[in-house]
Amino acid sequence: MRISQFREVSFLFYSFELEKYLEDLLPPRDELLLEMEKVALEETIPVVTPAVGNFLQMLVEISGARSILEIGTAIGYSTVYLARGARQTGGKVLTLDMNKGRLQRAVEYLQKAGLADLVEFSAENALKYLPRLSRQFDLIFVDAAKGEYQEYLELLIPLLVPGGLLVVDNVLFRGWVVPGAVFDSKYDRMVGAMRGFLRHLAEMPGFRVSILPFGDGLALARRSLE
Ligand SMILES: C[S@@+](CC[C@H](N)C(=O)[O-])C[C@H]1O[C@@H](n2cnc3c(N)ncnc32)[C@H](O)[C@@H]1O
Repeated sequence: MRISQFREVSFLFYSFELEKYLEDLLPPRDELLLEMEKVALEETIPVVTPAVGNFLQMLVEISGARSILEIGTAIGYSTVYLARGARQTGGKVLTLDMNKGRLQRAVEYLQKAGLADLVEFSAENALKYLPRLSRQFDLIFVDAAKGEYQEYLELLIPLLVPGGLLVVDNVLFRGWVVPGAVFDSKYDRMVGAMRGFLRHLAEMPGFRVSILPFGDGLALARRSLE
């Protein structure tokens, strides 16, 4: 009974077969992205799926975003997609990660990609750094500590231009946010925090929100033009 419940819930939004199929339909990735995927896998560094990366680049291009903020760089895999989008729009990316070692590797990868001049890197804790930022952004991508999402949200709202986009990764947290999902109790707090975050985001005045069930779940929120 529990296994079939898990199956019903997990296959509702996520199937590895579907993800793989969608991945096969993506434009081929270059050597650099493939190398970064390999490194991320070997070192268990969580990075966005190629489908999400491709979508991020498209979002930058479609929206024409010129000022882009990323919370959670890791080794710069998603940053490459954002910066490739920014290259099309004439924009720039500010990316932050409090892990200095990872951020340094991101700098090197973005240099290899020929995109480093479009990216500003900051080795800061988002919770301390965001309140000090005075400029606004057209697109903000959040992919850092899941338990801190609610706090980021409060800090990020004033940083988003009217009409700007907020994109948040991992919001379906392996499908465990779905009522009735079965998971290890050690994740109770994180799942609870993510459910609270999603509810809050979905009901936030002045925003239109879509939850996209691919990758690990992506929330897309647009601030109204006011
Ligand atoms: C999931 S990884 C980012 C993956 C990256 N966006 C990608 O797809 O290539 C999350 C990163 O967020 C960073 N992080 C976690 N909490 C943070 C915080 N409060 N401020 C800055 N960075 C943080 C971690 O060091 C980690 O490298």
